[in-house]
This record gives sequence, C-alpha cells and structure tokens, in this order.
Amino acid sequence: MGEREPARRASYEASPNIALVKYWGVRDTALGLPYNSSFSVTLDRLKTRTTVTFEPDRTEDELLLNGEVGAPAATAAVGRFLDRVRAMASLPWRATVRSTNNFQTASGLASSASGFAALAGAAAAASGLDLPPSEISRLARFGSGSACRSTYGGFVRWHAGSLPDGSDCRAEPVLPAEHWPELVDLVALVANAPTKGVRSALAMQTTVETSPQYTRRLEEVPARLEAIEAAIRRRSAEELFPLVIEECDSFRNVCESTEPSLDYLTATSRRILGAVRELNRTSGRPMAGYTHDAGAHVHVFTLEEDLPKLRASLRKVEGISRFLALKPGPGGRLVSGPPTGQRLVARRRGTARALPRRARAARAGPGK
Ligand code: ADP
Ligand code: DP6
Repeated sequence: MGEREPARRASYEASPNIALVKYWGVRDTALGLPYNSSFSVTLDRLKTRTTVTFEPDRTEDELLLNGEVGAPAATAAVGRFLDRVRAMASLPWRATVRSTNNFQTASGLASSASGFAALAGAAAAASGLDLPPSEISRLARFGSGSACRSTYGGFVRWHAGSLPDGSDCRAEPVLPAEHWPELVDLVALVANAPTKGVRSALAMQTTVETSPQYTRRLEEVPARLEAIEAAIRRRSAEELFPLVIEECDSFRNVCESTEPSLDYLTATSRRILGAVRELNRTSGRPMAGYTHDAGAHVHVFTLEEDLPKLRASLRKVEGISRFLALKPGPGGRLVSGPPTGQRLVARRRGTARALPRRARAARAGPGK
C-alpha cells in the first residue's frame, strides 16, 4: 500500500437571497422542480461560510453549525446532500462540514439558501469536482430549492421550466448587484422571532394540497414576475414596490388558507406591514414595499433617499429588535480549495473524470 491520501478540503461563501416572487410548491420532489418561476435579490453582508473536509478514515459525516454539533435533521440533510456529491465525484469518503451563518439560522432569513449554496460550492470543490456556477446552482437546489438562486449575485430568476426531466429548470443571473445601487432592503428583525419547526420545502406541499387559493396564485404569478423584472430593469421604484407588496400578500394568503393554516408572522410583523401601507398612503406615493419569507422578519425595500423617513416610521413600531440596511450583493465564491491539478470535471448524469490540465484551461475560457 502507498501512503495514506491527504484529506480534501475547500471553503466557500454564499449569501442568502430574498424572493420578490416566491417559490412555494414543488411539482416533482425527486428532481426538485417548482410549480412556478421565482425571482430574488441576493443580499450583501449576510453570509454563510462553509468548509468541507473529506477524510479517508472518517466513518460518518459530521456537521458543525455555528460552532455546535448540528441537530440530527440538519446533519441528515447535509449527509444526503453529500451522498449526491460523492456519487458525482466517485468518492466514498465521509466529511466534516463546518459552517457558520453570520445571522440567525432558521428564522426566515434564508439560512437554508445560503447554507446549501455554500455547501454545494465547498463540497463540489473539496471532492475534486470542477463545476461551473450553473452546475453548482443545480446541485444546491437539491439541498434547498431557493439555494439555487444564491449561487448568483444581484437579481436572479429561477426558471421553473416545463420539461419532465427538469433539464430546463435553472437559475439565471438577470442583472448584476450594481444595477440599482440606490435600492435598499431594510430588514426589520422582529424580537423573539420563532424558529421554524417545519422546513419550507415540506410546508409548501401542504399548501399545494389544501389551499383553495393556490391554483389562482399559479395563474397570476407569471405576469407579476414579468412586471417585477421590468420594473427593476427600469429602476422604477414606483412600479416595483406595489408589485412586491401584491406578491407578498398573495404568498401570505396561500399560507394562511393552508389546512392547517401556516402563519409565520408575529403581531410585530403585522404592525410593520401596516406601517409601510400607512407610510405609502400618507406620502401619496409608493415609498416602500414589504416582503417576508416563511418567518417573522420583514424586508422593506425603499430607495436610499427615503431610508430616513422609512426608518422614522418603523421606529415607532413596537417589538423590532434591530434594523439591517442591506443592498444587492455578490454571488457564491470559492474561498479556498484543492489545487487545480486535483480537480475533476463533472460529466452529465453525475459521474466524473480527471481532465488534463490543458483541456481544463480550454474549458474554463479566458480570464479564469
Ligand atoms: P431559513 O428561513 O433560515 O432558511 P429553514 O427552516 O427553511 O429556515 O431552513 C433552516 C435549516 O437549513 C436549518 O435547520 C438547517 O437544516 C439548514 N441550514 C441552515 N444553515 C445551514 C448551513 N450553514 N449549513 C447547512 N445547513 C444549514
Ligand atoms: C418562502 O427553498 O427555503 O423563502 O428547501 O425547506 O429550504 P427549503 O425551502 P426553501 O423555500 C423557500 C420559500 C420562500 C420563498 C423563496 O425563497 O422563493
């Protein structure tokens, strides 16, 4: 026998995204295919950093999340995800996954999106796979649907696609983060926000099965998505904010009409929604647009010039613990990885082979 092979390690960072058009409902759970296309903004400042270390002697996968041993469900989800990567890379080794979110986990700030985008990037690189962003995004989707959007920065559309094999289901960066520098997402962090008991991926299927409003929502979403993307292209806050509110209300409506009802908001969250509506009414124009995911915190979009007025009206709302003023941010990035000589290139249908260095350089194209 030769010398024991060294561990393979890589670190990757990714940020959460906030959906302006929500993904809520899966048409194929095995392939992770959504019913409707969605649209999001990747956020700056919030981030997950994940280091994956595959080791030849390890017998089980281990997750250390925010410095603590991961809960059994979170560890199992990571293990299932790594099984997929191991199959793609033909690598039998188990791994240690060390991950830190610099914001609250499982509270509606999309830690699952940044968490699985970061895990996809780190695990792929550590296993020796040399995947382009489109493949990292596709892989991330199997950990958490919305994670496929966090591979990219700025404004991102996740195309639901219509083919049964899912080959046209993909996330696409539509506009870079720098497209609209004046746009601000003021996140109102709600004090005592409850931690989610049920993953969104499960909760949304109850909506599909039981909400009488769900079919109508599916009919409405495509036109709203086009209008939202067009408003962003034109940098038109006046068009965008009412549409963002309309979409959020549609999402909340299908959640609340689910049996049993899904209610992610607290009294404080509802007061924030009311304060934004009131601000828009009294100022005689849509100064802000609120949205929330499956959690109590509320994201309020506004323009930088209106931020002081928005803050002033939200400061009057009882129960907000903190504000975070976020901007559109960058996509996922490899922080450190194995030397390129150890990388493999994924082939279709999940197997991999080593490519000669010169062939890899040709594939990567200029500037890489
Ligand atoms: P959120 O709104 O934060 O996305 P979810 O309940 O949808 O809340 O997802 C939270 C779950 O995502 C956690 O319980 C855990 O299983 C997983 N998760 C969160 N952060 C990470 C991470 N950094 N690495 C791996 N898994 C993570
Ligand atoms: C309301 O993709 O987070 O945030 O697989 O359970 O992590 P999990 O589901 P996830 O669901 C996202 C739901 C949403 C809307 C959205 O981000 O599009």
